[in-house]
Amino acid sequence: MVMSNFLEMLLLVVLIASRAILRSNALSLDYYGARCPFDEPIVRNTVNRALQRDPTLAAGLLRMHFHDCFVEGCDGSVLIDSTKDNTAEKDSPANLSLRGYEVVDEAKQEVEKQCPGLVSCADILAMAARDAVLLSGGPLYDVPKGRKDGRRSKIEDTINLPPPILNASQLIKTFSQHGFSAQEMVALAGGHTLGVARCSSFKGRLSDSTHSADPTMSPDFAKTLSSTCAKGDNTEAPFDPTRNMFDNAYFVTLQRGAGLLFSDQALFVSPKTRGIVNNYAMNQAMFFFDFSQAMVRMGQLDVKEDDEGEVRLNCRRIN
Ligand SMILES: *[C@@H]1O[C@H](CO)[C@@H](O)[C@H](O)[C@H]1NC(C)=O
Ligand SMILES: *[C@@H]1O[C@H](CO)[C@@H](O)[C@H](O)[C@H]1NC(C)=O
Repeated sequence: MVMSNFLEMLLLVVLIASRAILRSNALSLDYYGARCPFDEPIVRNTVNRALQRDPTLAAGLLRMHFHDCFVEGCDGSVLIDSTKDNTAEKDSPANLSLRGYEVVDEAKQEVEKQCPGLVSCADILAMAARDAVLLSGGPLYDVPKGRKDGRRSKIEDTINLPPPILNASQLIKTFSQHGFSAQEMVALAGGHTLGVARCSSFKGRLSDSTHSADPTMSPDFAKTLSSTCAKGDNTEAPFDPTRNMFDNAYFVTLQRGAGLLFSDQALFVSPKTRGIVNNYAMNQAMFFFDFSQAMVRMGQLDVKEDDEGEVRLNCRRIN
């Protein structure tokens, strides 16, 4: 009895706290409400059709939302095309794994038909990333909406993205600047359960004439990667053996010394984060729960409200 009262109270506190977070920046679950009742199913159907054609797009959409939020806040700035006067974020070398712009365009067009000029590109991207996770076997979480689209997209802002050579301490620091705990950082890193990276982003770890292989890699894995990368810098390797499935295999891979990027393996190397990796490797439900919560928080980074932004009519162009 006492226990259940305690749990109820805890739940209440959590609920109140999470409401306070949502209210503080005015995003809400039913932001569009009756003005656009089918925004969610329209986006999900579009993402579903796209993933049926090409399941590797899930990783691209998830990465795109992450990139959007870490650069200038979740404001759809990553979607903007370069013009002759402006080189946009999407043309940064850090863009290599971003794919699925056409999926966002298609979802936007479908939504525009039902409720013109209402639903922002930033919200559509947040929903599309969520749906990509769900449709790849990952958890379902609700996306609060009401983001406005930003009017700035500059290649130089992409220096805010964490590079793949950071160690765990540097990752913890970078993510804490955005308000994330070490555990939330590791949960978000688990997004690497989907997708691939190119040799150009990890070949520095392999042995060559000047240095030996990164000792944090298992020797077998180093051998496999070396033969992969013998085919060229653009050759891709998966982060875990199930590249199109959202699961906890990524963390098991780190335990085996087979993390693809230095920053992946670093999570297992450091005693500060190794316990979290081990927990997620053992308990997929725990990873799914933490990932969902961290994604909802990430989706609220520096969001623009009302007159700080606009609702773009075409996600690739400022109105
Ligand atoms: C990424 O940027 C390069 C230039 O750095 C550009 O050529 C390429 O089209 C961009 N890729 C995407 C998917 O936008
Ligand atoms: C992480 O990298 C920083 C910067 O290179 C370095 O000062 C620090 O000692 C490294 N931490 C660990 C645990 O290797």
